[in-house]
Amino acid sequence: MFVQQPIAILDSGVGGLTVVKEVMRQLPREKIIYFGDTARTPYGPRSPEEVLTFTREIVDYLIQFHPKMIVIACNTATAVALTDIRSRVAIPVVGVINPGARAAIGKTITGCVGVIGTEGTIKSGAYENALLELSPHVQVISEACPKFVPLVEQGNFRSNETYSVVRESIAHLKQYPMDCLILGCTHYPFLTDTISEVVGPEVSLISSADETAREISTILHDKRKLARNDQVPVHQFFCSGDPHIFKQIAHQWLGEQIDLTPVVWQVPRIS
Ligand code: DGL
Repeated sequence: MFVQQPIAILDSGVGGLTVVKEVMRQLPREKIIYFGDTARTPYGPRSPEEVLTFTREIVDYLIQFHPKMIVIACNTATAVALTDIRSRVAIPVVGVINPGARAAIGKTITGCVGVIGTEGTIKSGAYENALLELSPHVQVISEACPKFVPLVEQGNFRSNETYSVVRESIAHLKQYPMDCLILGCTHYPFLTDTISEVVGPEVSLISSADETAREISTILHDKRKLARNDQVPVHQFFCSGDPHIFKQIAHQWLGEQIDLTPVVWQVPRIS
């Protein structure tokens, strides 16, 4: 019997579902295995060493499903672990930073691009490097928004509290001539409406989800690994923390019920 090899997608929590949604839309025949490390989220304030260790553990877990590709749908993990994971597995590994940077460079007219992300991502300078490599004269304005991920993990997308936090964190970016703002954390597209309200309609919000899904498609096409069957794939989701809130957010975001298995780590590393 032919067994379809899945695409493995991982994140610190529900954020990678923004990439999952786009992969489902662009590549509806592909089977997805998703891991959200909700017991140890957020990754943003953690040290690079810790994020690297966690990412390796999740990849080791996902490898048992014989994926044809790994997608690190977490900017914080992409910034510190992409090169390492590529050297450890024999399948393609895709991150979310270069696709987001490419999308912004393709869109900006003023040449001033804003980037918001976790402390880890902003400190790493990964977006700045990727943007400057693509376009050496681009002006990059970066801001860490550590309060966003906990709100998203609680499913708190549109409350007054969320609006105040978003305003406090990014309203000052409007003083720059930026016309694109990269949502440099896969959790942030959940807050798109609120962020857009704060920065105004003249600033395009760039989520790396579309561009990442396109990159996945190109790689699978080039490697002749695109799924060819006509059956609707059955996706599988795993999370290391509270399955109820994960299920609820996934249902709300993806518009369908999901098959979710809670995973209890052998050695819990919650600090
Ligand atoms: N969604 C992740 C990212 O893109 C991680 C957020 C976090 O856990 O702090 O960076």
